[in-house]
Amino acid sequence: MASKDSVVELTSRGDTVRVLQLTDTHLKAFEGGQLLGLDTDYSLQAIIDLAKNEYPEPDLILGTGDLADSGAGNAYRRLITYFDQITPHHYWLPGNHDLRDVMVDVGGAQRVPGELRVGRWQILMLDSQLPGEVGGHLGASELQRLEDRLEVAASEGLFTLICLHHQPVPIGCSWLDEQMVSDAHGFFDIVGRFDRVRAVLWGHVHQELDQQCEGLRLLCTPSTCVQFLPGQVDFALDMLAPGYRWLELGPDGSIDTGVSRAESQVFPVDRDASGYL
Ligand SMILES: [Fe+2]
Repeated sequence: MASKDSVVELTSRGDTVRVLQLTDTHLKAFEGGQLLGLDTDYSLQAIIDLAKNEYPEPDLILGTGDLADSGAGNAYRRLITYFDQITPHHYWLPGNHDLRDVMVDVGGAQRVPGELRVGRWQILMLDSQLPGEVGGHLGASELQRLEDRLEVAASEGLFTLICLHHQPVPIGCSWLDEQMVSDAHGFFDIVGRFDRVRAVLWGHVHQELDQQCEGLRLLCTPSTCVQFLPGQVDFALDMLAPGYRWLELGPDGSIDTGVSRAESQVFPVDRDASGYL
């Protein structure tokens, strides 16, 4: 297994680092497989086409988990061909639907790094997956790595974007908030001591959020496939179109970001679906 301590160094085209986040692609083992009635290859290609048109030549793509729906090697092989349509510089972290060992086997260790360095930025890739569980957990070793790497970044004057799969704060959907990072207090205890941490970015919840909390930007992003309705106690689908997030990481620590959705296309889903694991 590739070490979670690995660091990948990248060069950005300009002073501002241009990033795409594509998350929760849920590719099935075979092309055309469906999640809740939606062909996740079809919806991912629609998002790739949209992003290529709206936000060409980003410096990198962040794939923040649930990239495969059941950890199939074939799904990760197809993921490479999709993301390569935009840039060869795409980096992944595992969600609860993924198998980290398979991600590394198929993508290579460089695809699943512990950290990226680009421009004036450190992008920390945390693993919140608890194998066999739906909910998220960082654990002592990831929290220690977080603290160690933030100390290194602070000593070098870098700004930090932290990425993980599960939400570290409640997002207002009870059924999803049961799955949030269970040791989030420990996470924020550490993050709160480092004022150059600018944002936390995640997937998992298949909906958009952009909040500011004590100087920290909290961001989550629509899935490239099915959407979950905000503010619900129980599972409910949202009929909004799939989407992606773009981020511009400035050399002064600023972040400009937004979400775009493939609103001009129709994405049939199973409206009667009563659950999702
Ligand atoms: Fe997901």
